[in-house]
Amino acid sequence: MGNLLKAQNLRAYYRLVGGTKIRAVDGVTLELHPNEVLGIAGESGCGKSTLAAVMSLTHNPPLRVLDGQVVANGNNLLAMHPEQVRQKIKGTYISVVPQGAMNALNPTQRVRNLVIDMLQEHFPEMKKSQAVDLARTRLEELSLPVRVLDSYPHELSGGMKQRTIIVLSTLLDPKVLIADEPTSALDVSSQRTVIRLLLTLLGEGIITSIAFITHELPLLRQVADRIAIMYAGKLVEVGSMEDIIFSPQHPYTRALMGSMLVPEKHVREQRIEAIPGVPPDLKNPPIGCRFHPRCPQRQVICPREEPLPKTVGDRTTWCWLI
Ligand SMILES: Nc1ncnc2c1ncn2[C@@H]1O[C@H](COP(=O)(O)OP(=O)(O)OP(=O)(O)O)[C@@H](O)[C@H]1O
Ligand code: SF4
Ligand SMILES: [Mg+2]
Repeated sequence: MGNLLKAQNLRAYYRLVGGTKIRAVDGVTLELHPNEVLGIAGESGCGKSTLAAVMSLTHNPPLRVLDGQVVANGNNLLAMHPEQVRQKIKGTYISVVPQGAMNALNPTQRVRNLVIDMLQEHFPEMKKSQAVDLARTRLEELSLPVRVLDSYPHELSGGMKQRTIIVLSTLLDPKVLIADEPTSALDVSSQRTVIRLLLTLLGEGIITSIAFITHELPLLRQVADRIAIMYAGKLVEVGSMEDIIFSPQHPYTRALMGSMLVPEKHVREQRIEAIPGVPPDLKNPPIGCRFHPRCPQRQVICPREEPLPKTVGDRTTWCWLI
């Protein structure tokens, strides 16, 4: 199957004053296919937002890419000139809804001015009225109230604010939308409306694929086709939604599922113990399998050697047991 975007052996570290390195993304290879929602899940601090920043080319110091590529149409986007990335990629090929975007909207500007700023950044010759027309048409197409254009961000509910951000982020019909925790801090009903909007954008062909990042794995049951699980800067298991949610293989994926409330009774009944210990410090992560200090199934080899990926069907797992 082809891919729209691929992280290839990506290594991205935060370099702090004094030379300390935080290995937030450490050798990640992950593809986003056409017409899919790829869920990316894992505990807080495992590197999800860092991966999102690099894959959307929105990373800034102290985050640096040390190795690897972000590939689209055979080109390494990380090697492109920043001006070319701005003109040809950002907003039009890849768009991102960063974590906490809802709270980062300029409170002194009406939404219509935010739309104008965003569109004129890509098309400096575009008239203000054209920009607002484009946003109005898209809101109507998606059955969202056009009056949000006249509102200030604080006048919108959390769910409406997030939906507005998603609409604005996809006005230029990007192929890929990377949505980082788009439903966090929303009530269940607002979460549903946000998910419905994302699926409508995909269903209408406005966007072609979504990377949906969350620390709530069960949420991905509603939205994802495939799921990638991250732990301490690395992938540990990638597979179909059904495989990951209903028959996880990696001890960490199983622990993650077991530590969360899920609606399915048969899954609840197989719950294993909550995950013991805490995620490692990424300044100095464990040698070998990074999950070994917390793993109930640790083997002799685990603290010594990093597990190699094993692929069976469309599932890949990084664990010596598999
Ligand atoms: N600006 C920064 N400077 C230094 N370290 C950072 C910075 N941002 C993130 N980190 C560190 O990088 C690691 C990965 O963080 P990241 O935000 O990517 O995780 P996450 O999986 O998105 O977490 P969350 O679920 O809380 O959003 C963590 O150890 C975090 O403390
Ligand atoms: S490689 Fe070893 S320590 Fe890591 S998850 Fe598998 S069994 Fe556990
Ligand atoms: Mg994050």
